[in-house]
Amino acid sequence: MNLPLRVAVTGAAGQIGYSLLFRIASGAMFGPDQPVILQLIEAPVEKAMKALEGVAMELDDCAFPLLKGIVMTDQAEVGFRDANWCLLVGAKPRGPGMERADLLKDNGRIFITQGRIIDAVAADNARVAVVGNPANTNCMIAASQAKRLPPERFTAMVRLDQNRAQSQLAKKAGVDLTAVHSIFIYGNHSPTMFPAYAHASIKGRLATEIITDTAWLQGPFCETVGKRGAAIIAARGASSAASAANALVDHVHDLMTPGTVHSIAVKSDGSYGFDPHVWAGMPVRTTTEGSYEIIHGYAMDDFAKSKLAATNKELVEERAFVADMLT
Ligand code: NAD
Ligand code: LMR
Repeated sequence: MNLPLRVAVTGAAGQIGYSLLFRIASGAMFGPDQPVILQLIEAPVEKAMKALEGVAMELDDCAFPLLKGIVMTDQAEVGFRDANWCLLVGAKPRGPGMERADLLKDNGRIFITQGRIIDAVAADNARVAVVGNPANTNCMIAASQAKRLPPERFTAMVRLDQNRAQSQLAKKAGVDLTAVHSIFIYGNHSPTMFPAYAHASIKGRLATEIITDTAWLQGPFCETVGKRGAAIIAARGASSAASAANALVDHVHDLMTPGTVHSIAVKSDGSYGFDPHVWAGMPVRTTTEGSYEIIHGYAMDDFAKSKLAATNKELVEERAFVADMLT
């Protein structure tokens, strides 16, 4: 048996937390041979801490063999101490009629504080995955506070969008989900994101040879994936939670599995026209556990270039909006 990994989770008593923690403790995130210690962090609010106690009781009641300990705290310094993975979920979700960027000023502050504390107390090999919205810019904010941990250790989640895109392509083509590969998300986790359908494959052929309806690919497909979060809020009255937790399991699992190619939001290296100061979704290949390289060189047609430019513009604007927080 390996030594336990310390996994810090913020917002642990929230909606996503309630779906996420059980998947981590069962081995879905780090595999069946990897024990974990959950370090659960909540806001210093009585109701939230009380709810967290209930969640911890349920974790105990699952008798997960891989779960070797639970820390519950409202002190980030305690919760992030020696953490190998810091999963930053805790933040306000948007309500109906809001865009994720409307959360920036409120949620951004959380990530300033947490970025500083993680840098000070987490393990030397710490990795950070940001889910709290707007995820790309919050990730950039957290990374901006780090002096010890390099920026590539900070990633944000666009995996929910990748999973949504895979599912939509499979439905349209009338094939099983597992026949769809290489659909990657570029840019912001917002309606401007670009699911690059031209590089996807279905049953081993180019997706565009199977789905020849270009108007659907450029219109309803991009729109459905980009606005799926809002559609779920409209239907459920609350933002996606189980599918978000599932996507975070995929994000971290694939980052821990060398050779896997998947979409995550990372610090731009200027490729695909992204400003080098923003965190943008793009395809990466996991190299060693927790590390990755950006995959360069996917050709982009004029439509794709215009979508990349639009999502980059939004990321640059979000960065400008929080510039005063970064200093
Ligand atoms: P929620 O309101 O149910 O839970 C959030 C939890 O975070 C609450 O329990 C709250 O007390 C806690 N919290 C707030 N500030 C905190 C802090 N400083 N430290 C620790 N905990 C804190 O919300 P949710 O539905 O679980 O969503 C959480 C976030 O994830 C939202 O911002 C939401 O928009 C985002 N989200 C992102 C994606 C994505 O794909 N990136 C998908 C779904 C949701
Ligand atoms: C989602 O994509 O479902 C989440 O980011 C929640 C939201 O606000 O849309």
